[in-house]
Amino acid sequence: MAARGGFSSRLGFVLAAAGSAVGLGNIWKFPYETGENGGAAFLLIYILCTFLICYPIMVGEIAIGRRAQSDAYGSYKLLGGKSWGFLGLFGILCGVMILSFYNVVAGWAFGYFLEISFGDLLETPSFGDFFGTYVADVSDNLIFSLGFMLITAFIVAKGVKGGIEKASKIMMPMLFIILLVLIGYSLTLPNAMDGVKFYLLPDFSELNLETIYSAVGQAFFSLSLGLGGLITYGSYVEKNQNITQSATMITFMDIAVAFLAGLLIFPLVFSQGQEPAQGPGLVFIVLPGIFQAMGPILGKVIGGGFFLLLCFAALTSTISLLEIPVAYIVDQKKVARKWAVWGMALLVFLIGLPSMLSQGAVAAFSSLPFYGGKSTLDFVAEVFSDIGLPLGGFLMSIFIAHRWKLAALTDEIAQGNESYRGSFMNKYINFVISYIAPVALGLFFLVILAEKIFGFSF
Ligand code: PFF
Repeated sequence: MAARGGFSSRLGFVLAAAGSAVGLGNIWKFPYETGENGGAAFLLIYILCTFLICYPIMVGEIAIGRRAQSDAYGSYKLLGGKSWGFLGLFGILCGVMILSFYNVVAGWAFGYFLEISFGDLLETPSFGDFFGTYVADVSDNLIFSLGFMLITAFIVAKGVKGGIEKASKIMMPMLFIILLVLIGYSLTLPNAMDGVKFYLLPDFSELNLETIYSAVGQAFFSLSLGLGGLITYGSYVEKNQNITQSATMITFMDIAVAFLAGLLIFPLVFSQGQEPAQGPGLVFIVLPGIFQAMGPILGKVIGGGFFLLLCFAALTSTISLLEIPVAYIVDQKKVARKWAVWGMALLVFLIGLPSMLSQGAVAAFSSLPFYGGKSTLDFVAEVFSDIGLPLGGFLMSIFIAHRWKLAALTDEIAQGNESYRGSFMNKYINFVISYIAPVALGLFFLVILAEKIFGFSF
């Protein structure tokens, strides 16, 4: 284990895994999905999905990694035989592809932070036009996303303890502090309570099948499940740690940040009489208008603070996404970590170029004829994240129930938590992995495939 590195303590692991979970998914995606899907009703379903399906899958992933002490590919291969190794490779591929577009969006957040805090972004007359021009601008995008990838690689190159764990221990508390300060401010604004009501009083009339599967996809993405990221982090966890307790803490932190991000954003939106259902532009178009209305100084402080928060959240996630293929190369190909990190970062950056150029810069990437005229970024996000992650979770539950076996899972979890054996939690996790997860995710997978690939609408 020493050669591979490892987390120094439970806190280190929990903060790093929570850092992976908390990201653009919580602060950028969750509020706009909630805004589009009936506010509190979406929040409730999201929380339900998290506990009914995702929590046991998270425990399963961590247990697989800790048992095998290897990367995603190596772990499946070791516990299931060579043919199961493909599931690890599929997860690694999803991780690389998700990082390739995630880093582009993180680059936008980085650029917004710098240009609000130190530039004149808030003097823009139209934030919609500004955002459109910004994401289509090749040089800005190149600089900021390359910058973000370099920072990510720099931290990952420093290793599990000295890089990933240390960065998470600094950034996660800062993230909570910035979030709480911003919420404190946003709740004092006029009409803030209308935003709180929209957010906390459920309107079930907006609920439909789409809401439900958006919530499942969001929960997987938000908790970083289905692609072996937690197998990788789990492989750095000591045998005497209590996995179920750590997973509970990670899950709560993830839900807390998504919940708090909504509590920050909806009062801001309602205080300016804006609509909550604004789609992906909510954070980049609507919020800057609100920061502008605060006046030049306060706008820079609160607006800059918000985008810094987004950068911290994104960075702890890009770190974990880069670690997935890096661990594979280090463990399987015996390449030194430093080379694996820089080589992989460069490769992922290059893979992300079409996504980066798909927001208006290059027409051929902006509208893919074989994918309904959608952009390359949408294509990569939908195939490798919206479909890929639940598919990975589905196959993982089958792997545990039918190949590795529930008894082996129980043995692994019981190390570090003897009272687990035979407990309610034990039965609950076994039941979800054997029945609920395969059935619900199998259905989810069919619905989403029918919609995205074959164009059905439910
Ligand atoms: N959980 C991250 C977010 O919510 O932004 C995204 C993510 C990170 C997904 C790492 C998958 C992963 F392995």
